[in-house]
Amino acid sequence: MTDSIYGGYANILEELRSMMEERINTYTKEVYQETGLKICEHLIARVKSEDSMREKCNRKGVPETPESALKRMRDSIGIRIICPFIDDIYENVNRLRNFPDCEVVEEKDYIRHAKPNGYRSYHMILELETNYPDILGNPKGKFFVEIQLRTIAMDSWAALEHQMKYKKHIENQELIVEELKRCADELASCDVSMQTIRNLIYQG
Ligand code: GTP
Ligand code: MG
Repeated sequence: MTDSIYGGYANILEELRSMMEERINTYTKEVYQETGLKICEHLIARVKSEDSMREKCNRKGVPETPESALKRMRDSIGIRIICPFIDDIYENVNRLRNFPDCEVVEEKDYIRHAKPNGYRSYHMILELETNYPDILGNPKGKFFVEIQLRTIAMDSWAALEHQMKYKKHIENQELIVEELKRCADELASCDVSMQTIRNLIYQG
């Protein structure tokens, strides 16, 4: 049997993933009780698989070690929050920024600044301070969590675009890339319209 890329930390990662999920579910329920709005349509959380983590270390040219997986890569724990509306994304972001024992170490707003291919999402990397020791010997160990926030439309687009990227031989690649970009922009425009309509409904 080969050793885990996460060393002895695989269980801790699962535990932290579950704790983060719970925290997000908790504030989501609170917001619902306060406002009647569901700011999270659903969420998925995972610890990156051994194979994907090893593949990523190779791709980045770093050794396949627990230290790389836990400290140089920052997406061993990944959470995707799918939101009904654009404003819900920023509401989630505000709550995540204020999580106790968490430092925001990176934020990328690919909604205000979409990628050239049309990709939209809000990305955050949090560093959690925990009561578990970490691989560097800190008694209050620190672990990274990557959070991606998207609308339902952005998520379905990203899933389709992902399929294209990982399929080896595609005919009409250029046309598909162009059509995907067009779709991304149309969906973005729809997301804005939907937000505007919701604002009108709640204003009245
Ligand atoms: P990493 O070193 O992999 O973290 O790269 P990065 O920090 O340059 O990437 P970024 O934070 O922009 O994106 C990380 C993750 O976002 C990816 O693993 C994907 O899940 C998602 N992502 C980013 N860009 C795209 C894209 O163009 N299409 C799709 N489908 N997903 C994307
Ligand atoms: Mg990244």
